[in-house]
Amino acid sequence: MNPEIRFLPDDKKVQVKPGTTVLDASKKARVHIRTRCDGNASCLMCKVTVEDGAGLSGPGENERRKLGEMIERGFRLACQAKVLRGCTVRVPEDPLKAAIRAQLAKQREEEQW
Ligand code: FES
Repeated sequence: MNPEIRFLPDDKKVQVKPGTTVLDASKKARVHIRTRCDGNASCLMCKVTVEDGAGLSGPGENERRKLGEMIERGFRLACQAKVLRGCTVRVPEDPLKAAIRAQLAKQREEEQW
């Protein structure tokens, strides 16, 4: 049976072949992860945080160099981390969506007054 990766906060799960990158798995799960370099470890936009990373490949030298101390805080590059066994990652909210959500919340708050 192929390993399953779970994406938070949407709680979407998908089974992939071992060795599939988290980024490719996210496409299969229809979870949007931002990217500009198409998986070449140069844009650093595909950062995810690891909730349960026991089933992910270890970070390579390139990923370690790019992320530095962020790796110790649980960040990985979705285009570099590979799914080997079951694992869970959290996809950060898109900054544009976060700004819109904050603006809408502020408007709702103002309408109450
Ligand atoms: S997709 Fe650009 S660094 Fe991962």
